[in-house]
Amino acid sequence: IIASPSEEYKFIIICSPAQSYYGGEVRVKIAEKFSRAADGGFGFTKAAGNYAGQFYPTNLAKEEGFQQVVWTDASTHEYIEEAGTMNIFIRLDNKLITCPTGDRILDGITRKSIIELAKDRGIEVEVRPIKVSELVDGIKNNTLKEMFGSGTAAVINPILGFGYKEERYELPKIENSYASILKQQLLDIQYNKIEDKFGWRYKV
Ligand SMILES: Cc1ncc(COP(=O)(O)O)c(C=O)c1O
Repeated sequence: IIASPSEEYKFIIICSPAQSYYGGEVRVKIAEKFSRAADGGFGFTKAAGNYAGQFYPTNLAKEEGFQQVVWTDASTHEYIEEAGTMNIFIRLDNKLITCPTGDRILDGITRKSIIELAKDRGIEVEVRPIKVSELVDGIKNNTLKEMFGSGTAAVINPILGFGYKEERYELPKIENSYASILKQQLLDIQYNKIEDKFGWRYKV
């Protein structure tokens, strides 16, 4: 017997209510050694293997008091990529930044929606690689105002702090965060409470 794909598949969709993955406080560990995805792989998909490989490093991070790992690029670990089930945004001063998607990063629908909503509000949005050092410097010089994850389950999950190379960093607490404003707007569109000028709602 050799490992081989099946010759027959059954495609099954299971619908079920789900809780938010993480409620409350989220602090993340920035990956320094482990990797979630590599070029030429399937990091961009919701494939089971992508999640299985995250359990062990995430459990190690949990033992240190973090809820999630923010993965970094597999070759240099110098750039942040995404979290276990969320794309990542940072706010430097008043600019919202998220890294480009590709082979290694899931092209989340919530990420896309947030980029559109933010631009529509006149918030400057940059899609470009983000260095881990920008986060550390941003805390030191007070320019890192926010960091949050985006995904269908939690919509937007603010990140209160992160750990990197034995150091822990806390983000400032701010009023009227982009995270809270954009989350509310997206929820209001989803729940049919405000006009949907983007044409996202679909009658079923
Ligand atoms: C690895 C990963 N990245 C990002 C996301 C966010 O994607 P979406 O906004 O489409 O839910 C998910 C959602 O499950 C995910 O599993």
